[in-house]
Amino acid sequence: MNGQYNQDIHMAVQTSALLLDHDAETRALIGESLEKLGWQTAATDSGLKAFDLLDKGNVDILIADLEAPGPDGMELVRRALSDHPGLDAVLIVTAATAARATEAERLGVAEYLVRPFDAAAVKRVLARLAERHPASEAKPAPSPEVERALRTMVGESRPMQMIREAVLKAAAKRMPVLVLGESGTGKELVAHAIHECSPWRGEPFTVVDCASLSPTLIESELFGHAKWAFTGANQARVGLLVSAGQGTVFFDEVGELPNEHQARLLRALQEHEVRPLGSNEAVPMEARVIAATNVDVKEATRNGKFRQDLYYRLKVFTIHMPPLRERKNDILALVHHFLARYGAAEGIADFSPEFMNLLMQYDWPGNVRELENAVQSAVAQCSSGSKLDVKHLPSTLVYRSQRSSGLRDTARLQAVERKAIVEALEMTGGDRLRAAKMLGIGKTTIYRKLKEYHLEDEGLN
Ligand SMILES: Nc1ncnc2c1ncn2[C@@H]1O[C@H](COP(=O)(O)OP(=O)(O)O)[C@@H](O)[C@H]1O
Ligand SMILES: [Mg+2]
Repeated sequence: MNGQYNQDIHMAVQTSALLLDHDAETRALIGESLEKLGWQTAATDSGLKAFDLLDKGNVDILIADLEAPGPDGMELVRRALSDHPGLDAVLIVTAATAARATEAERLGVAEYLVRPFDAAAVKRVLARLAERHPASEAKPAPSPEVERALRTMVGESRPMQMIREAVLKAAAKRMPVLVLGESGTGKELVAHAIHECSPWRGEPFTVVDCASLSPTLIESELFGHAKWAFTGANQARVGLLVSAGQGTVFFDEVGELPNEHQARLLRALQEHEVRPLGSNEAVPMEARVIAATNVDVKEATRNGKFRQDLYYRLKVFTIHMPPLRERKNDILALVHHFLARYGAAEGIADFSPEFMNLLMQYDWPGNVRELENAVQSAVAQCSSGSKLDVKHLPSTLVYRSQRSSGLRDTARLQAVERKAIVEALEMTGGDRLRAAKMLGIGKTTIYRKLKEYHLEDEGLN
């Protein structure tokens, strides 16, 4: 592995600091010093909020007041240091509470600030941390490979920028990563980008679609089996956790993995080895695991669908993919990106303003995947060399979009509406409820509309 390269990645990432203190003046004093160092800073006076920020973000430096109300600073530090490898903690104490310093030292606290302190004291402590956490101004340009991998994730919205930073941070390390988000938001794309940004990009990137694995084959597929482990196993087999070498194994829809295999995966992650079926000998596992799910994991751990212990192990580094409707200013760039991919051969490179307006009004329940499909199918409807227009879009999409923009009861909406309903019924084989869902309307509404447009028999076989 190339050490220099690894450092590049680390330095390309902005250091982020989390500050917990009850006193506004102290927050201002420390916050100012942090920002001078070029560190991205979040400050709060609430222990609960700090826990929340810690769970969400990728915090490098934590500065916490031992006497913060609510869950105290020590608790926060304990959690931070156990869950976030590489994090540095600074504890703010008074002469009276300094007695707990030994406890803090056992936890691995790097530095203290003893009240009362001044700007110079803060500066001294932060200077020591800065040696380990280079400021973002110092960042050199990423290597061409990293640039290319980052460019596969299109979009300049604030969430996308943060996702790129998280991808870089994850790439430099080997720890497991959990990617959360609705279907079509780009979870697999991000997993692949992490792999491609990492020094291990030459090793395999293996996708395991947990929802479609056959339950009888999962075990030997993932962990391998010994010769004669079961009837017909006339050869030993290496599971893909091992055959991925130092590469990445991407577990898509990890919550669909049967409970016992979730437990085995957890063990593999903790012990860095797997035990093939029918074998007494453990085999070392070096691959990095990235897992994704589109379900609400916290809920899934409560109802037992997702093992809590595996969740805790994976969530140390979590990347949240926001739905497309929450970053609509990425739509334009994405349309250009997909047009370059699907329209180039047909000489289709442009679209009407109405086309874009409509895409901006739509809520994109299928996220980027749905946008990609919409552009691709519009290109197929459009004649070579022309501009994409509203008439090239699927009518279910046009209908949903115009409804949500409040365009109601006009002759145009009625025409669109009728066409959309017919299309939805065709696509669902006459299933009224599924059609209603596709159109984003209720059950009673679709029955009313079927009557209104004399479509009661439409799509029925
Ligand atoms: N930010 C993005 N830039 C470019 N393409 C994207 C982006 N997000 C998603 N896509 C594309 O959308 C499709 C769905 O993405 P995928 O990663 O499979 O989503 P998920 O795994 O969350 O269901 C893929 O073709 C992917 O390349
Ligand atoms: Mg997927």
